[in-house]
Amino acid sequence: MGIGIIGTGSYLPYLRLSNRDMEIMVETSDEWIITRTGIKERRICPKGMASSDLGFEASSKAIEDAKIRKEEIDFIICATITPDMFFPSTACIIQKKLGLKDIPCFDFQAACSGFIYGLEIARGLILGGNYKKGLVVASECMSRLTDYTDRSTCVLLGDGAGAAIVGVSEEDGIIDTFLASNGKYDNLLYTPAGGSLNPISFDIIEQRKNFMKMEGSTLFKIAIYSMSEAVNKILKKNNLKKEDISLIIPHQANLRIIAGVAKSLDIPMEKFFVNIEKYGNMSAACVPIALDEAVKEGRIKKGDIILTVAFGAGLTWASNLIRWIK
Ligand code: ACO
Repeated sequence: MGIGIIGTGSYLPYLRLSNRDMEIMVETSDEWIITRTGIKERRICPKGMASSDLGFEASSKAIEDAKIRKEEIDFIICATITPDMFFPSTACIIQKKLGLKDIPCFDFQAACSGFIYGLEIARGLILGGNYKKGLVVASECMSRLTDYTDRSTCVLLGDGAGAAIVGVSEEDGIIDTFLASNGKYDNLLYTPAGGSLNPISFDIIEQRKNFMKMEGSTLFKIAIYSMSEAVNKILKKNNLKKEDISLIIPHQANLRIIAGVAKSLDIPMEKFFVNIEKYGNMSAACVPIALDEAVKEGRIKKGDIILTVAFGAGLTWASNLIRWIK
């Protein structure tokens, strides 16, 4: 018995925020954003909608793609750093929107590495023997954590959701996973307030501490190093060469980070799936959206060995080694 991905789906809200729009909001330029990040536009979740709405749409598409009845889903797990609210979990709200009941549903977060962590959690739950199929959904409204007066972060972030149905399969689809984190770097990327340490107050809002803060240039270097390590370690452990991998689905934080990883691994850029120009950084949702697009564009075929790789706040970093079984 193996465990693999049997369906994928993604959803992007229709509102677009272009670099030209950003030029009106902060002191920046289309040219600066494109050359320093590769981003041309990002999607924004409209007012009144939330991560669960994006996650519901992506999940519905994944269920359709897997050609299963939604009632066959045995659990729902949701990776998000932008839940609809502290509680109940966004996974439970997605469950309600899908019209499912009685199955276990919970959120977890590993920031941008969330979906990769999620595939391993799903694999573990199914290996435990109590479940046969699970929904892993990563849904983010990063616009809600974005300070649109801070040009060093606001140009980077966008909203979206991606989902996968993981299930028992004849072949081993999720071959292996590498997961890592280092809490020592918690101050490089974080939202200072809004949690139990600094609850929301008038002062907090005035000081804009409810928005994401980031040390971009330090993170940039760590990102290249840690993503390269996540690829090298999983290949070595599984006795594979980089030539055995047909496509790499990286987290989309910055095109220059992806190029840096490609250079450090000595793997051509053509082997990296890139869609950052359309959506920017959607945290945990980047990898499953890119995976779904790569499949739908015919970049992944049955039998291909592919890699996901990401890094994010925590810091966390991770990779999955996947055999495409569909
Ligand atoms: N437009 C114009 N100028 C800008 C902008 C902007 N949007 N943002 C910053 N600058 C300026 C800076 O103020 C600085 O000016 P100065 O030299 O006068 O001080 C100059 O550009 C260079 O700034 P750097 O920060 O050195 O620029 P860099 O080339 O490093 O690019 C960036 C910045 C894009 C943020 C990059 O560091 C990066 O991508 N870092 C990693 C981000 C990341 O991956 N975050 C983690 C994921 S996010 C998440 O997990 C949710």
